[in-house]
Amino acid sequence: MDSLAPLSFDAEALTSGAVEVIRPVGEYLVEQRVAEADIEVKGLNSLVSHVDKTAEARLVKGLQALLPEAGFLAEEGTAGASDNARFRWVVDPLDGTTNLIHGLPVFCVSVALVDGHQPVVAIVYDPNRDECFTAWQGGGTHLNGKPVCCADRSQLSDALVATGFPHWDFDRMDDYLEALTAYARGSRGIRRMGSAAIDLAYVACGRFDLFFEYSLQPWDIAAGLLLVQEAGGITCTFSGQDDTQAMLSGAETFAAAPGIAKEGLAVIRSAFG
Ligand code: IPD
Ligand code: CA
Ligand code: CA
Repeated sequence: MDSLAPLSFDAEALTSGAVEVIRPVGEYLVEQRVAEADIEVKGLNSLVSHVDKTAEARLVKGLQALLPEAGFLAEEGTAGASDNARFRWVVDPLDGTTNLIHGLPVFCVSVALVDGHQPVVAIVYDPNRDECFTAWQGGGTHLNGKPVCCADRSQLSDALVATGFPHWDFDRMDDYLEALTAYARGSRGIRRMGSAAIDLAYVACGRFDLFFEYSLQPWDIAAGLLLVQEAGGITCTFSGQDDTQAMLSGAETFAAAPGIAKEGLAVIRSAFG
């Protein structure tokens, strides 16, 4: 059950403080090269290196100092999971690990503070473009300090769609391909960036009109969900549930500009239904 009690801190000030922690970590990522010999395999096509772990440890140290009462859910496990804390920092130190390893400059740091299951502070920092997307509950979404919002397109035929291709969980591949086919036929085109956090940030600032992916993890999407919500967009599961706990699991992520959501979700419901 999500807590409804007022926040015990100034969310805008906390966002600014978190940005100060995150920026240098993003700059560190840009300078790193990972040799094949240094890659660890966590699971099928799930890679990690010393870069992810070093970045995460730096984030955990800085964020802990900002809000000592908050726990953590951090991808690489450098902070123990704290399931009972009301507030938790949900941290992906490097979203786009495979891109970084292959020298593709599309990756970011993604950090959210969640209250129960609802993100209340979000930062997605893309150090390659020096783009810092921020949001706090009730405060709107900003890109490098300037307000941004979702696109105002109203037809799928005018939309640019983003997705993440299945790469380790192929159980819903047929449904996924059905949706992909419908979007390919029905939209302006489809993009696969390789970073779910950047995909969601781009929905929030109107570059993409719709994003969908299944079998993500909380740290991939916690910050991006709030960016989209505060930018006026729609976020839900594939059945259209606006359920914070279900969404935060990352099992089914759908996000869209408000004028595209109904038509876009009909495609997903039909394919995955
Ligand atoms: C990955 C990215 C990618 C998505 C993968 C994620 P990582 O995160 O967000 O876009 O398709 O499922 O695992 O491993 O680079 O942090
Ligand atoms: Ca990730
Ligand atoms: Ca990661």
